[in-house]
Amino acid sequence: MTIHFIGAGPGAPDLLTLRGRDLIAACPVCLYAGSLVPEAILAHCPAGARVVNTAPLSLDEIIDEMARADAAGQDVARLHSGDLSVWSAMGEQLRRLRERGIPYAITPGVPAFAAAAATLGQELTLPGVAQSVVLTRTPGRASAMPDGETLANFARTGATLAIHLSIHNLEHVVAELAPFYGGDCPVAIIWRASWPDQKVVRGQLETVTSRLDPAMNRTALILVGPVLASENFDDSCLYAIGYDRRFRPQSADSPFAENDADDPVSEGRGEA
Ligand SMILES: C[S@@+](CC[C@H](N)C(=O)[O-])C[C@H]1O[C@@H](n2cnc3c(N)ncnc32)[C@H](O)[C@@H]1O
Repeated sequence: MTIHFIGAGPGAPDLLTLRGRDLIAACPVCLYAGSLVPEAILAHCPAGARVVNTAPLSLDEIIDEMARADAAGQDVARLHSGDLSVWSAMGEQLRRLRERGIPYAITPGVPAFAAAAATLGQELTLPGVAQSVVLTRTPGRASAMPDGETLANFARTGATLAIHLSIHNLEHVVAELAPFYGGDCPVAIIWRASWPDQKVVRGQLETVTSRLDPAMNRTALILVGPVLASENFDDSCLYAIGYDRRFRPQSADSPFAENDADDPVSEGRGEA
């Protein structure tokens, strides 16, 4: 048997991978992080499944649920919101499972920052404007930030910032970032991206706090960076006429003219 960690996506029940849906349907036990996983996803559980909201449980109690299923030879679907690679508390569960020799597998999900960008209709990396997205947060009651992972340090790069778990801290976020990005730097706050009641507030660092609806607490992402209001960016080379590349060699002399899928030149350029 296996504990299947499944990214349940940002909120819309159909933003779930097909693999995730099929695994949920095949597992007689489903443990879900009830604070953010949409209930509609639980409709994929098979009839008679044991479905447990783990929000009120301790880590030990969650692992005990998994161990009981393991002893009974039952697969488990373990659902967390968004993707599992960030702020899912999966790491500590995996460590306990390794200690107990219980097998697990991971199925990724759509992360909140991607849903938020889709809501905005926005690419977060634009040529000449920003080529990096920093997924970060501010310190919380339960989670200090490691030294060095300060907003100021990330802001020095000028990258697009996707700041999680921090909407209650918006004034601090603005105060930290304004000296680096400038008060006129665009900001977007996306509350419950992909949910039917999603809300968006756009503004600038110097205006956004006053525009925020107090109802937009929790489950909101703060996106900051010049990409959010850039129209004057360069086209990428990828589709440019005359750009020599693997899938569109420009002449018989092109290093890409033959089948060179493993050619380090094309790999180095990073285009498909
Ligand atoms: C515990 S973290 C979970 C992140 C998740 N694992 C992911 O892949 O995005 C929760 C935070 O993610 C952000 N978040 C999660 N779902 C969101 C959504 N639908 N819209 C906006 N922000 C969301 C908020 O910042 C929230 O405080």
